[in-house]
Amino acid sequence: MYLQSLTLENFRCYERAELEFRPGLNVILGPNASGKTTLLEAIYLLATTTTPRGGRTRTAVRHGQPWGRVSGRFAVQGRELTLRATLGDPSGERSSARTLEVDGREVASAREIIGRIQAILFWVGELDVVKGAPADRRRFLNAALGQMSARYLDDLQRYRRALRQRNEVLKSLGRRESDGHVLGPWTHALVESGVPVTLDRAAYLAALAPEAAALHQRLGVGAEQLVVRYEPSVEPADADGELADEFYRRLEETHRGEVDRGSTQVGPHRDDMLLEIDGVDLRRFGSQGQQRTAALALKLAQARVALARTEQQPILLLDDCLSELDPDRGAAMLDLSRDHEQMIVTSACCPEHLADRVADAHLIGTGGEPASCGGCATEA
Ligand SMILES: Nc1ncnc2c1ncn2[C@@H]1O[C@H](COP(=O)(O)OP(=O)(O)OP(=O)(O)O)[C@@H](O)[C@H]1O
Ligand SMILES: [Mg+2]
Repeated sequence: MYLQSLTLENFRCYERAELEFRPGLNVILGPNASGKTTLLEAIYLLATTTTPRGGRTRTAVRHGQPWGRVSGRFAVQGRELTLRATLGDPSGERSSARTLEVDGREVASAREIIGRIQAILFWVGELDVVKGAPADRRRFLNAALGQMSARYLDDLQRYRRALRQRNEVLKSLGRRESDGHVLGPWTHALVESGVPVTLDRAAYLAALAPEAAALHQRLGVGAEQLVVRYEPSVEPADADGELADEFYRRLEETHRGEVDRGSTQVGPHRDDMLLEIDGVDLRRFGSQGQQRTAALALKLAQARVALARTEQQPILLLDDCLSELDPDRGAAMLDLSRDHEQMIVTSACCPEHLADRVADAHLIGTGGEPASCGGCATEA
């Protein structure tokens, strides 16, 4: 799948813009604060109905305007698909409204859009997957799995509800042991939803790990070997049944502690993901370059797994990577576009050593001037 054109109206710094994209490598060039990241954000918004900047999508409406809109025309397996998100209400009646449309038809919920377009975004926040807290790595897993499977999102939602309610009961016990009657139903709901979440994460990471290691090698880091491994709170067994038994056993084992602390001590909400290079824990001891390269490899691996599972080539959106990578890694990254139907990268300037690679790409300028770079003054 690939993006053919994008139209923005009252979206962040854009009053109105219409941009054409092509399959293959697209490079968005422009000075700082000219709206490069905003373009990737708009594409991501169409694919996922959320903004990677966090918070409500409504904040992306151009300051001082009552509404904003993003529309994209995509090619999906030879057919055209138009997605449109309107933030706020152009009629001015409902200021908090958000309208989503597929091929001109309004859809009732975001779930009717999610999954139609697979877009994978790498931007500055992505480094948290490596150097952040376990919660950041769980967020990565949830986003990756959630984009592919609505069932996973359902299980996760049921798990969160069970966890919240179980914790409320634990708090209300006030350090007294429960006789099982009050806690029992929530314990059951926790295990019943937590088992598929754990199994899905385990299967996903088993598929992701070898792809991430291979991509890490290709990004030019030579002999360094990236190891990615699931660190589940409750160890998955082969069969659902056994994992459920294990989950019950761990809950029982930690019951004293959960009563004391007033919160559930084991379960997928305590999962983590191990990231190692040559036996060194990247999360704590990686250099900035190592962490960045590993985060990029994880993101690109996410695209590979999405391709294998959904048979759809996700659109790769890479924000401001070139300036951060040394010449060899930058070139290796752009060369990866040959493996993808479409890759859209942004850069504030085009480093001279990459000019020949960028010259073959479709250039898009955001600075008002024609997009130009080091060795290749090419019109946008
Ligand atoms: N809701 C909004 N309304 C109007 N302008 C906004 C809004 N949100 C952000 N902006 C502005 O949009 C501009 C473009 O931001 P963006 O992050 O897309 O730039 P960029 O080209 O990626 O810059 P950099 O090279 O520094 O990463 C900024 O000046 C920002 O202040
Ligand atoms: Mg930016």
